[in-house]
Amino acid sequence: MITLKNASRVYYIGETEVSALKNIDLTIEKGEFVCIMGSSGSGKSTLLNVLGCLDTLTEGEYILDDININLLNKDQLAETRNSKFGFVFQSYNLLSQTTALKNVALPMMYANIKLEERFEIAKKMLCDVGLEHRLYHKSTQLSGGQKQRVAIARALVNNPEIILADEPTGNLDTVSTAEIMKIFTDLNKKGKTIVLITHEEDIGEYGNRLIRFSDGKIIYNEVRK
Ligand SMILES: Nc1ncnc2c1ncn2[C@@H]1O[C@H](COP(=O)(O)OP(=O)(O)O)[C@@H](O)[C@H]1O
Ligand SMILES: [Mg+2]
Repeated sequence: MITLKNASRVYYIGETEVSALKNIDLTIEKGEFVCIMGSSGSGKSTLLNVLGCLDTLTEGEYILDDININLLNKDQLAETRNSKFGFVFQSYNLLSQTTALKNVALPMMYANIKLEERFEIAKKMLCDVGLEHRLYHKSTQLSGGQKQRVAIARALVNNPEIILADEPTGNLDTVSTAEIMKIFTDLNKKGKTIVLITHEEDIGEYGNRLIRFSDGKIIYNEVRK
């Protein structure tokens, strides 16, 4: 499904070069649950952004379902991003004065779906993550765990094959963390491919595969069981 060959990403800040990814080779199969660990600045988010077509490689190849991503133009990248990926971030990225229902319905504005149906789908997604009693709460009126559940529901509305999560439990307490990780586990059991970045060793245990990053390189890549 996902193949990176000799993938590098260099950032330029003035005269300074920062190699965020250094000659990465990586394959991820459909249905995997991959956890990524590594110290701050080791290139984890850069990798996730590249996978999700939010960023592009400066060298090497990215093949996604037989599509050579390097060859896509801006519009094609956006189309691929919207159709294939759902994103979940540490800081939730919700509109704060907007209800859970509207936050989840929002990404469907660009799909050709009637308003009424958008809200139907959003409602179903929120019920699926256990928030049927919080549909009309604004983000500011929700707990961290609830906000992350809204964000997950939003990531799912376009029925993506792959979910990319960048430290999704980074701001959560132990109880909410367990709840959110159960949702990811269930989604994976239903066939979603998941790539999840975490700082916490015990979260790293959830996946079927653990990858460790150091200084832009993969230093560990093991399938468990
Ligand atoms: N947009 C950017 N411009 C310049 N440097 C960046 C940018 N994004 C990331 N970097 C640098 O690339 C390296 C990897 O960053 P990142 O992928 O965010 O690491 P991680 O997610 O593992 O903490 C860091 O040294 C960071 O400072
Ligand atoms: Mg990061």
